[in-house]
Amino acid sequence: MSAAADIEVLPNAERLAETAAHQFVAAANTAIEAHGKFTVALSGGSTPRKVYARLATEPFVSNLDWSRVHFFWGDERCVAPNHQASNFRMARETLLDHVPVVEANKHRIHGEDDPAEAALSYERILRRVFRTPIGPPRSAPLARIDLVLLGLGNDGHTASLFPNGASLRASDQWVTAEYVHAVSMWRVTLTATVINAAAEVVFIASGSAKADIVRQVLQGPYRPHELPAQLIAPADGRLRWLLDASAAAELRRDAR
Ligand code: 6PG
Repeated sequence: MSAAADIEVLPNAERLAETAAHQFVAAANTAIEAHGKFTVALSGGSTPRKVYARLATEPFVSNLDWSRVHFFWGDERCVAPNHQASNFRMARETLLDHVPVVEANKHRIHGEDDPAEAALSYERILRRVFRTPIGPPRSAPLARIDLVLLGLGNDGHTASLFPNGASLRASDQWVTAEYVHAVSMWRVTLTATVINAAAEVVFIASGSAKADIVRQVLQGPYRPHELPAQLIAPADGRLRWLLDASAAAELRRDAR
């Protein structure tokens, strides 16, 4: 991996969620102070879910001007927004319904639409918001996502960048749609190109079931097509890993 990863190990899942919530609010206030708004791409999954639920409580609710936050999604399942598998629904139920977010600032991926259409329209929104009508993302304020939250799948996927998927090779696109056989569904995802342009990327992984894949991704051979999480190396941004002790259990201490 090219970007040195900043790894923080917390004692348990609750402290992990609390730390991630603090870092979210800190990144948000820094971005709002610097350029008037905060753009964040949320992840799906059970681990990020705990972070959103913690963000929807004090002191985090009061410590951030939520009207300045623009929400995006790192990926979406191609289902309706009220479907139980929807990442938008999960974020809405755990966080967005509990903080004063501006409706127009929720930029969800339209999982209910034709996947290719949903990917195209989402890329158009990103290019409009980040003022980059053509070409690669620019690592400049207001031209890139301030914070991308990512989970880690047990197979090394992140967002909906799955092993050996076509999306891994879509370097000119910001968003792709792909039928993912591993989960038997269509997915829409940010590409590594967009994620790596972000100001900050934070992986969140918890539990002993993640220990082996965390070790493979962080300390194993670099094989990004089998381990797409290894593609994530912000070109001009910060990369952090927030782990609980169980997920970090197989990491060599000297290399943390
Ligand atoms: C999704 C996520 C996916 C998730 C990982 C980890 O849509 O499912 O974007 O990348 O973050 O699968 O999920 P867990 O935290 O539930 O293990």
